[in-house]
Amino acid sequence: MDNQFKQSLINSSFDDILGQDAVKKQLKSALVMQRNIILVGPPGIGKTTLAKNVAKISGNHTPFVRIQGSPDLTAEDLIGDIDPIKAMEFGPSSREAFTKGKIFKANKGVLFFDELNRCSEKLQNALLQVLEEKKATIGSYDVDLDADFIFIGTMNPEDTSTEKLSDVMLDRFDLVYAGYPETTEIETAIIHNKGKKLDVNYPENLLQLTVNYVRQLRDSDKLEKIPSVRATLGLYEQAQSNAFLEGKQEVELKHIFLAVKSVISHRIRLKPSVKYLKTPSEFALEKFSQFCEHLGYGKQGYG
Ligand SMILES: Nc1ncnc2c1ncn2[C@@H]1O[C@H](COP(=O)(O)OP(=O)(O)OP(=O)(O)O)[C@@H](O)[C@H]1O
Ligand SMILES: [Mg+2]
Repeated sequence: MDNQFKQSLINSSFDDILGQDAVKKQLKSALVMQRNIILVGPPGIGKTTLAKNVAKISGNHTPFVRIQGSPDLTAEDLIGDIDPIKAMEFGPSSREAFTKGKIFKANKGVLFFDELNRCSEKLQNALLQVLEEKKATIGSYDVDLDADFIFIGTMNPEDTSTEKLSDVMLDRFDLVYAGYPETTEIETAIIHNKGKKLDVNYPENLLQLTVNYVRQLRDSDKLEKIPSVRATLGLYEQAQSNAFLEGKQEVELKHIFLAVKSVISHRIRLKPSVKYLKTPSEFALEKFSQFCEHLGYGKQGYG
């Protein structure tokens, strides 16, 4: 890592992410030491945004390579493969016939591996040697190619459709745990900064209500899957559309109510004890009504 990058890291406050101070601090200290890290946390809390912020800081002369983890990603994609045409020309085990995989583009820079735990175990194993030795040996080739980079991975521990990272793999990383925005104020600021806007006013009290409604769902003991920041952003944006399509200049409570079903229902999962009594939509709408009544809004405001 060049000194300029190190200096920018020290000075940076990772402005694209609001709050998450402890996470930023751990990320920074791992980066200056060139330690490999994995950002761990539920979906939609800014892991990718944070890693991209590192790219921004690293500037133009430090390579930043992003790999999207998926079960289809192969070791060949990562490390490299034989190019059949060049193999005919130069011979199958010639160095020329080898096409370098994506990992080498990150040499002397940052390799950002999003959703690492969605990759096959085979691919994880292919990564191990590279992480350990900073070099990759290519099958029958007697060459070691430099692959010296800082590794930033992300993973969502609740994703059940994924491979478990093996212990040997995990032992090579520092894990940095991130969670939902710490306070209502921070989440409101995220919405202000990141939410798309139409030419309609979103009254501050209704924005508070929107944010707090989602935050209250996160605290519910009836849910086993809870809504992320994307849900809050979704309500904020959809409520504006609903107002706009009605020709209104200001978002009203009913516009938020109308957004709840399509924004929230699939982002929550009810615990088995409640699952047979109501659907996620019914649950979300009922919680919304209760929340509004609790705040003193009459049902005529939205029903
Ligand atoms: N603390 C935060 N500060 C700023 N924006 C945030 C924060 N948390 C979430 N967001 C916003 O929420 C959205 C989702 O963030 P992002 O894609 O980075 O999440 P993620 O953790 O990578 O999610 P996934 O696990 O689903 O990939 C983005 O619009 C992002 O800007
Ligand atoms: Mg992500």
